[in-house]
Amino acid sequence: MPTTEPTQLDAAILANREVAREHYRMALDAPAIASRARPGQFVMLRPGGGAGPLLPRAYSVYSADPESGRIDVLYRVVGAGTRALQRLHPGETLPVWGPLGNTFTPPASSRLILVGGGVGVPPLVFLASSRKAGPPIIGGLGGPSSRALTALLGAATAAYLVGMQDLASSGAEVRVATDDGSAGVRGFVTRLLEEELAGSSEEAVVCACGPLPMLAAVARICAGAEVSCQLALEAPMACGVGACLGCTVPRAAGGFARVCADGPVFDGAAIDWEALRE
Ligand SMILES: Cc1cc2nc3c(=O)[nH]c(=O)nc-3n(C[C@H](O)[C@H](O)[C@H](O)COP(=O)(O)OP(=O)(O)OC[C@H]3O[C@@H](n4cnc5c(N)ncnc54)[C@H](O)[C@@H]3O)c2cc1C
Ligand code: FES
Repeated sequence: MPTTEPTQLDAAILANREVAREHYRMALDAPAIASRARPGQFVMLRPGGGAGPLLPRAYSVYSADPESGRIDVLYRVVGAGTRALQRLHPGETLPVWGPLGNTFTPPASSRLILVGGGVGVPPLVFLASSRKAGPPIIGGLGGPSSRALTALLGAATAAYLVGMQDLASSGAEVRVATDDGSAGVRGFVTRLLEEELAGSSEEAVVCACGPLPMLAAVARICAGAEVSCQLALEAPMACGVGACLGCTVPRAAGGFARVCADGPVFDGAAIDWEALRE
């Protein structure tokens, strides 16, 4: 079940600008959502006026400021929905519905390792900023430190990297991997995760979002290292509230979970990754 009742509103667009190649950050005036959104939750956006697709699309909340009433989302232009978003300008309005879904719940006392692949970075930026805003880490070495929060980011190439500055501003030690080696180490971001877990004796929790193959690898690595992981999944969505069963994923215990209503955040061990691959 969603942790809060969602609100539907026509939000004024405050900004919509390119922040990396093909990636846009949109700011919306949505006080009823900004006051309740938590890291991991998402909103449904539907560019109206016949300019976009019939069905709304889900976007993770990148940031939410209860004081100003502003929420931000970050999207990569890949298809009909995101092309319609890209065409919108400040001053126009956009139907928004949210916040939807459950949230990341890492214990404040653990070392937190964030793993973001591609456009999976937004909920991790929100999580990092919430942790910074929260109480000092009990049991840590004198409160939050860069070692207490590590962000591992992966992208195909340097031009697609997003969220690095915001993660660093939240106190994260940021490490990067790119497929072509144009930034950070060459290879998959999961290689950085293996290094982090191998070199650490602290109790750690991993929170991740990105493409399914990356999440499956994160779940496998964490299981091998006996580290708990919370993974935000993406699936095609129609209703966003658990009614259409269009977003189901197989559970390790049998049966199916709805990404929109039972997730999007799942314990890595709760998903049957082999069945999901088929
Ligand atoms: C809970 C949740 C949170 C999400 N958060 C975000 C977010 O923060 N930012 C974001 O950009 N998207 C996010 N998505 C994905 C988003 O809902 C859309 O699916 C995506 O933006 C594509 O919509 P579209 O209409 O432009 O493309 P469509 O017309 O639906 O698809 C066009 C083509 O692009 C492919 N495609 C879809 N997504 C991607 C992708 N990410 N990269 C490359 N190819 C893709 C499709 O398979 C298809 O072939 C999220 C999805 C879920 C379920
Ligand atoms: S999108 Fe309809 S059940 Fe999840």
